[in-house]
Amino acid sequence: MYILKQYEMGDIMDKLVVKGGCKLKGEVNISSAKNSVLPIIAASILSDSKCIIDNAPMLEDVFVISDVLSSIGTKINIDKDNEKIIIDSSDVIDKEPDSELVRKMRASFLIMGSMLAKFGRFKISLPGGCNIGTRPIDLHLKGLTCLGAEINVAHGIVEAKATKLVGGKIYLDFPSVGATENILIAASLADGETIIENAAAEPEIADLANFLKKMGAEIEGEGTGTIKIVGVKSLKGITYKPIFDRIEAGTFMIAAAITKSKIKINGINEEHLKPVFAKLTEMGVIMEVDNNGITIDGNAELRPVDIKTMPYPGFPTDMQAQMMSLLSCIKGTSMITETVFENRFMHVSELKRMGAEIKIDGRNAVIKGVERLTGADVKATDLRAGAALILAGLAADGVTTISDLYHIDRGYVCIEKKFKKLSADIERIKE
Ligand code: EPZ
Repeated sequence: MYILKQYEMGDIMDKLVVKGGCKLKGEVNISSAKNSVLPIIAASILSDSKCIIDNAPMLEDVFVISDVLSSIGTKINIDKDNEKIIIDSSDVIDKEPDSELVRKMRASFLIMGSMLAKFGRFKISLPGGCNIGTRPIDLHLKGLTCLGAEINVAHGIVEAKATKLVGGKIYLDFPSVGATENILIAASLADGETIIENAAAEPEIADLANFLKKMGAEIEGEGTGTIKIVGVKSLKGITYKPIFDRIEAGTFMIAAAITKSKIKINGINEEHLKPVFAKLTEMGVIMEVDNNGITIDGNAELRPVDIKTMPYPGFPTDMQAQMMSLLSCIKGTSMITETVFENRFMHVSELKRMGAEIKIDGRNAVIKGVERLTGADVKATDLRAGAALILAGLAADGVTTISDLYHIDRGYVCIEKKFKKLSADIERIKE
């Protein structure tokens, strides 16, 4: 019985109606990081007993990967009221996971490393690309091959087998987050030492490494470009609380700036958001850090800045669309360069429907700030683009209606409830 069907997910026809011009006030609590919980759930397959994830974000992507694990025999109990996920993989079986689910969400691919480490083989449908890019997996497969896997890709299926996983040295041509995670997971139970060079350094990688180390894995260097793993014989079940979602936190920071409001955001780790702090400070936003969050005041004449997205610790690509909404409302010209994904400007055409003046030239978008955006009917084209449209709607004159909310529901827990609590005029309506 798949979890997904047990949960009333946002109806595909839901829309958000946002009335612009409201000042935000009060406090918002940030949820745990989607991009930590997904690889952690995938890695829990390796444990020989129950894993419990506390403070888990109740998001569609979390339900989908839980369903993927259910389709190979893992017992998963999602306790929505207590935001807890209990995972028992003691009866997991060596079979191909449900291909419809795998194609539904790319991060399902993170179970490759676990399946290879647990069973010495896997067979899985190639993930679809998505709106923001082709999203190949060559680096994932290169890394697993270095650990001794024989991999065959044909007819849209990836098959791999390894009589034994043996540690090795892997150089990633690009510091891929997913590839680093898959290799980290597989190497935890490989024989001997694995070194990942040019590894991704995102905070979610360190969070996954901490989860694995608590289970008994031997890992060092996580959060840097070089990670060393010495394989162990087995990993035990644990209870774990993931880090806060830095992208959700950054989204609310920009909400304060774009509505010229002062709000408190609880659950921010300044270390994880340095480039966003730096850029908002450059623009004139005032931020005060306290022991578990920040007070942010966007109530000032803000200055335009240029942004270039880069792998961590550079400016996060997952904050690019939200920053574009803000820069669209600031007098002056700015430029955003998207270096991580090849097609991550789909929000531009939607922002232009709201009066934004943006010109795309390859990987660059030149933004000429306008006095005020105007409300319009717009579509979320991907997760962060959807968030960017909410931010634009909060600042626009008039009413903005946002459809295709399933994109947003994948990565933000009850986003409209959190904004309503901050006094935004926002409603989810069922068509
Ligand atoms: C993770 O995706 C995140 N998703 C993305 O967040 C995030 O945008 C991305 O990292 C970059 O930070 C999750 O963690 C579930 P990559 P991932 O592998 O692992 C190329 C969101 O909004 N590449 O670092 O897929 C790839 O095409 C989502 O929460 C290869 O060429 O990202 C892309 O251009 C969106 N070959 C670049 O690397 C590979 O084998 C970055 O991809 C793998 C990746």
